[in-house]
Amino acid sequence: MSAPGLNRAVNICCIGAGYVGGPTMAMIASQCPQHRVTVVDVDQGRIDAWNRGPLPIFEPGLEELVAGCRGRNLFFTTQVDAAIRAAEIIFLAVNTPTKSFGVGAGRAADLQYLESCARRIGAVAEGRKIVVEKSTVPVRTAAAVQAILAAHAGRASFEVLSNPEFLAEGSAVADLRQPDRVLIGSERTASGEAAAEVLASVYAGWVPRDRILTTNLWSSELSKLAANAFLAQRISSINAISALCEATGADVQEIAHAVGRDARIGSRFLQASVGFGGSCFQKDILNLVYLCQHFGLPEVAAYWQQVVALNDYQKQRFARRLVEALFGTAANKRIAVLGFAFKKDTNDTRETPAIAVCRDLLVERAQLAIYDPRVSAGRIEADLAPWLDLGGHIEVCKDPYAAAAQAHAVAVLTEWDEFRSLDLERVYAGMLKPAVLFDGRNVIDLAAARRLGFQLHAIGRAVPEPRLGGATR
Ligand code: UDX
Ligand code: ADP
Repeated sequence: MSAPGLNRAVNICCIGAGYVGGPTMAMIASQCPQHRVTVVDVDQGRIDAWNRGPLPIFEPGLEELVAGCRGRNLFFTTQVDAAIRAAEIIFLAVNTPTKSFGVGAGRAADLQYLESCARRIGAVAEGRKIVVEKSTVPVRTAAAVQAILAAHAGRASFEVLSNPEFLAEGSAVADLRQPDRVLIGSERTASGEAAAEVLASVYAGWVPRDRILTTNLWSSELSKLAANAFLAQRISSINAISALCEATGADVQEIAHAVGRDARIGSRFLQASVGFGGSCFQKDILNLVYLCQHFGLPEVAAYWQQVVALNDYQKQRFARRLVEALFGTAANKRIAVLGFAFKKDTNDTRETPAIAVCRDLLVERAQLAIYDPRVSAGRIEADLAPWLDLGGHIEVCKDPYAAAAQAHAVAVLTEWDEFRSLDLERVYAGMLKPAVLFDGRNVIDLAAARRLGFQLHAIGRAVPEPRLGGATR
């Protein structure tokens, strides 16, 4: 049973109306009608989309959640200063991408957005404020936020908390409604623990108390990186085994099933794939690597770096196998790419393996026909823009059959449910022959595809070639 949350109304502000801020605040507003929640962003277009729709991000169940409380106790605005002034709790949910320049480029997190928020809060806040790090940050970022806020502490006093998000895209609403745990890190001082209690009481509005964990600030920050590193490591482990399966005739799905039945290991996150993507895994591991190097732990850094290296290998391997199947050249060949998002049920393409695979194919001067049910053509074009003047070409298609028409090969890169029920006969009929099918997500019915005459390739699964003439064997 959940303990009751705070009875008094709390004014909450969240800076950053993205994949994290939007859904998280919608859940708080929906579960706690007594609190007033204002989400602010510098991006007017994004705020307009939250207010008028279609929502800027796709998440199953999000539209209903937002519609239920927007205008009641959930507001979206670009009036950052006013929202900061009015709030008792201020969440920081801005983006913290991997640094692309300067010291730590390619590994360290770029904290410029977070820092500029902290400066803004310091400049305009008055009274007592609880500032909550929601964005994933390197360990000890809270110290930097505190230092910036302290420089302005004349008119306001601040407590900084760490409250990492553990939601996965595509299941964000369900994850937020029934989280495995909520983690709140604070300074181990009376005022720090009091601030943590205020935040815990907000979550207690719908989360059972025994799932709300409190730790010191640094444990909370590091737990987030550690959890993502462990999850990503499982995927790289099973992907490493997938390469061995292809070499030996073992089947990675059978192995995942057998290994996952060991209760100590468990069955989740053992799906071999073309590689993991998303805004968190790679970024967080690289962050961890950077941290280890900083603290003089090169062996530990190398250990985690390998999880990312294996993921890069898995993506490259996929494109390489595809080119090999096309007799060593993809130049001017139409290749249908089914799925561009980094996983199903999201329109997010950050670090999606599809970008790496498409890049490698564009370098080979392939003609890509790309279909994704949720990712916009503009997004796909922007993501692939750096490789468009190398002689390759892309076309964004409105359905999988249009993409596959006249294609030499089809590559499934995202596990969208609709690809499980693809009309394979129709796909095959429209393709040039031999028709090559690469399943990067193990969602295709291989037996049915084999009967139709496809030349099949999957991740970690032994797929016999069809006999000449397309017969089964
Ligand atoms: C992840 C964490 O799960 C979440 O707790 C954290 O807060 C943010 O990072 P997310 O990036 O949204 O969430 O997606 P997740 O479901 O973890 O998948 C990440 C990537 O791994 C996807 O590309 C997915 O397709 C891939 N994956 C996942 C596999 O390849 N195999 C699996 O078995 C599971
Ligand atoms: P995440 O997945 O971490 O939520 P997003 O990129 O989806 O990342 O969202 C982060 C949001 O933060 C963006 O909409 C961006 O415009 C916003 N943002 C970044 N810096 C600031 C700032 N200083 N003030 C307000 N909003 C900001």
